[in-house]
Amino acid sequence: MEQQRIDTFLQLQGQTNPSPYLIDVEKAEGIYIWDKSGKRYMDMIAGVAVNNIGHRHPRVVKAIKEQLDKYLHVMVYGEYIQDPQLALAENLASVLPASLSCSYIVNSGTEANEAAVKLAKRVTKRKHIVACEGAYHGSTHGSLSFTNNETKKAAFTPLLPNVDFIKFNDVASLEVITEATACVIIETIQGDAGLIKPTKEFIHALRNKCTEKGALLIFDEVQVGMGRTGKMFAFEHYGVVPDILTLGKALGGGMPIGAFVASHEMMHTLTHNPVLGHITTFGGHPVIAAAANACLNVLKTTDWIAQTERKGKLLQELLLNHPKIKEIRRAGLFFAIEMESVEVVQQVVDNCLKEGVIGFWFLSTPTAFRLSPPLCITDEELKNVATIILKVMDKL
Ligand SMILES: Cc1ncc(COP(=O)(O)O)c(C=O)c1O
Repeated sequence: MEQQRIDTFLQLQGQTNPSPYLIDVEKAEGIYIWDKSGKRYMDMIAGVAVNNIGHRHPRVVKAIKEQLDKYLHVMVYGEYIQDPQLALAENLASVLPASLSCSYIVNSGTEANEAAVKLAKRVTKRKHIVACEGAYHGSTHGSLSFTNNETKKAAFTPLLPNVDFIKFNDVASLEVITEATACVIIETIQGDAGLIKPTKEFIHALRNKCTEKGALLIFDEVQVGMGRTGKMFAFEHYGVVPDILTLGKALGGGMPIGAFVASHEMMHTLTHNPVLGHITTFGGHPVIAAAANACLNVLKTTDWIAQTERKGKLLQELLLNHPKIKEIRRAGLFFAIEMESVEVVQQVVDNCLKEGVIGFWFLSTPTAFRLSPPLCITDEELKNVATIILKVMDKL
């Protein structure tokens, strides 16, 4: 790659990672990304759990093109009746329980979480927020307040007051939830913490405690929603329904989106005292809503979600016995592969990249690397990926 192009990229585009991947992207299709030299990569992270239906799914591209010919932005969310927004709201309601029938489309996962917590404060008229150790909910001030990576937060204090953290999977720590608690915000399955699943005991105790104390339960499924774990929504594994659900990432089929979903009754509180309880200019942009609606239709009409657990198991079994791997934690097609050290993770990820397989880090779990391939990946492709990863590990 031309050095001048890299220098321009590093100089003119804001960076937060001191050593970015620098893949110079030419095009992407299905599970593949091509760089400008023609090298093909198998995208085993799907843009960090975004491209669940693969890159540029034809139905998403078609929906975008059709909407482009009708209208772009016309008004802030919730003012005008716009076909793509209405269709998306109906479509989301069709795959969610009746208590989660009203969706508000925003721009990103972090905005969805901030708005969900605002909604909980508005509904309960309380101020106390409970979140989880190890949580990641986004990078803006509000979401950072209920995120639990102290190293990454310290430089940006003061953040929101009145936030307490409980231990994930520790029923005893639920004592912190009281009649003063507006909400508990929790990833249904923790992602950035290195893929930690809740025990059934914990998640049911959490639901019961929230109900008992009148605190709203918010499940953040920005990362684990939209089929990633083998169900449309991860909470379906546990028989527990949140009061508010947040979505993002894969919902947009490759376009930027977030959503918070609640009952109509709760959502309606944002219309008064004060009016305009959450405002977003571009939330629910018609082109993005059209893409999201098409993406949801793809997830509903293919067997990809139904095959996710089987495919995840296949990849896990193919990788399992390598002596360099200490542990594999997995939910559907979302993997945390635990290695013996940060250095080994670095080598595996770097060398996989050279071999054309893109894996990625966790922000807070440096001894593991992530795999979250598109759900449309075939068995053959999974076998190819496993062969390359094992070859890279053999050479360590
Ligand atoms: C669980 C979870 N919540 C929220 C977010 C923030 O989403 P966004 O980056 O779209 O703001 C992320 C992003 O990785 C996430 O994994």
